[in-house]
Parts: sequence; structure tokens; C-alpha cells
Amino acid sequence: MSGSRILGTGSALPARIVTNAELAETVETSDEWIVERTGIRQRHVAGEGETTATLATAAARAALADAGVDASSIGLIVLATATPDNTFPASATKVQDTLGCNGGIAFDVAAVCSGFLYALSIADSMLRTGMAKRALVIGAETFSRILDWEDRTTCVLFGDGAGAVVLEAPNAEASASKDAPGILATRLHADGAQHDLLYVDGGPSTTQTVGHVRMRGQEVFRHAVVNLADVLKEVLEGTDVSVDQIDWVVPHQANKRILDATARKLGISPDKVVVTVNQHANTSAASVPLALDVARKDGRIKAGDLVMLEAMGGGFTWGASLIRM
Ligand code: UT7
Repeated sequence: MSGSRILGTGSALPARIVTNAELAETVETSDEWIVERTGIRQRHVAGEGETTATLATAAARAALADAGVDASSIGLIVLATATPDNTFPASATKVQDTLGCNGGIAFDVAAVCSGFLYALSIADSMLRTGMAKRALVIGAETFSRILDWEDRTTCVLFGDGAGAVVLEAPNAEASASKDAPGILATRLHADGAQHDLLYVDGGPSTTQTVGHVRMRGQEVFRHAVVNLADVLKEVLEGTDVSVDQIDWVVPHQANKRILDATARKLGISPDKVVVTVNQHANTSAASVPLALDVARKDGRIKAGDLVMLEAMGGGFTWGASLIRM
């Protein structure tokens, strides 16, 4: 039996675009280096008044409109973010209030770049056990606010944005049929021993500051390709789906070279991999739902397609989810 079903998707990006050439005016870098090493050509950066919660709300509204459902039907909001508006309360509660669906469940999930996969899995589990009938699962970030803009090894890599899906609890009758839409299998992992390879050097309980992103890029890269290829295989092992039956892979958008290397390792054609890193850079928890929305709205991902979502990030955390749209 398949799990919860995606009824609609939406996304939101800040209006301001920052090109590689613009960054090269303030740090010692070049468009050539950034494109060659990462595939990134530009990123969106939040302006005054734009926050993780405002971007999340805009993405949620777009997802509700796409699904054709009213915010009042949402009983659960799970927001994946590492850049909340405030240390507490959860930014999900701000989204809930702005949408006007107060009274249900709303909380944030911190699993950084894998946050959307974690949030999706939590929401699916809660819907399956009857905690709510319909959920908004959102990934939203304003990483521009935790970047060290003098550190060229990190500041060129990230961007701001949000993506959201409306998720509905499985209907036993409908989801029992073969090829029914829904989440087919998910696997999540974490390895806290890798904390120092990708982290923020601040926080309320340690420095009482927000801190900045720090990363040992090459080491993260190596782990990413191995972990992602492994978790994709693990997800497929729990289903009767083979790798060649996957219609689309929607990966976390950290680096085009990671996407290519992972696809190569699994024998997946690059034509089946959704790439948005060139336009959005790495938007952490937002990148998977943003890319999913882009590929649905431009007509690539259609109803009935088998879609693999995957992500890896700080913690380390990583995971993948196979979904029939
Ligand atoms: O979202 C969570 C997951 N995150 C990731 O998956 C990120 C994984 N890592 C990566 O994507 C890549 O490792 C990076 C894009 C971060 C770096 O690419 P790389 O090919 O691994 O470069 P590198 O770190 O080995 O650096 C190569 C050179 C160094 O100079 P030297 O020591 O060879 O003289 C760096 O100092 O490039 C230099 N460099 C830069 N040069 C121009 C580093 N950053 C820049 C820059 N512009 N922005």
C-alpha cells in the first residue's frame, strides 16, 4: 500500500538575483571557477522584509493553489529549516498564523539540507497514523543570513528560497491499487561523527550568536556521492521498483558534479536528473521541493511518474524517498 499523496507543489524565490560576476566584485573568485566547480550561475538572495517564514508562506500558498485546496483543511505544518526567523517559536507557527489555519499541529525540523526528506517522512508517518488528514510540508531557507560573505569557499555556494507540497493521508481503498499515487518508500540516516565537516559555528546554547556556515567541501563531496548512491539503492530494495523504472531523480542541489557523479554511480541517465543548482545554488532544505515544483510546473514530471527525491547535508544527515506522483 502506498503512503501519503502529493496533491500540489509550490515554490517561492526572493526577487533579488546575485550573479557570480557580482560576487567576484567582493570576494576573490570568478564566474569561471564557480561554474566549473559547482555548476552555479546565480542565486536568489532575500531582501529587507523577506524571511524564511515569508518565503515559506508564499511557497505554501502556491502549493495550496496548485492542489486546489483551502488552507483551512491543513491540520499539520512541518517546516524544514536551518535558518528560522527566531530561535523559537517554530517558523511553522508563523506560517500557520499567516495562512489562517491555527489550531492544528505546526513545528520545524532541523536536518539542514536533508530537512525536507525528514519533514516529508515525519508528515507521512503522522498522516498514516491519523494525526491529521492533510499537511503542508515545506523546506525554506535564508542561508544568505548565516554566510560569512568574506569566505569564498562557502559564500558562493548558497542561495535563499522555499518549496512546499500539500500532502494528503492515504485512502486505504485507493492506495491499495497497483500504481496508486503516494510515497512508496523512504530511508533516512544520520552520522553525528561528521559534525565538524559541515556546521554553523554559533548557536544559542554555545556562543549565544547565530554563527556562520563552515564546511570542508572536498570531504563533504566524497561522503555525499557514496551516501546518496547507497541510500537510493536501499530505498529501491524496499520496493519492487528497479533503477531503470525511475522516471525522475530530484536531488538536493549542492553541486552539479555531485549530481552527475551520483547518477553515474547508479547508472541513471543524466536526462532523468532535475537540475536547478545553476539557477538557485544550494538552498539547503528548500532545494528538493523547489526543484520538484520547477519540474512539475514545466511539464517534465507528470501524474503517474516514479520520482526519487534525495538529499544529504550537515550532521551528516541524508535520505531518499520514492514517490509515485
Ligand atoms: O549541501 C550540503 C552538502 N554540501 C555539499 O555537498 C558541498 C560539497 N563540496 C563541494 O561542492 C565542493 O567541494 C566545493 C564546490 C565546495 C569546492 O570544490 P572543490 O573542487 O572541492 O575545490 P577545493 O575545495 O579542492 O578547492 C580548490 C581550490 C583551492 O585553492 P588551492 O588550495 O588549490 O590553491 C581553493 O582555495 O579552489 C580554491 N577556491 C576558490 N577559488 C575561487 C575555493 N573556493 C573558491 C572560490 N573561487 N569561490
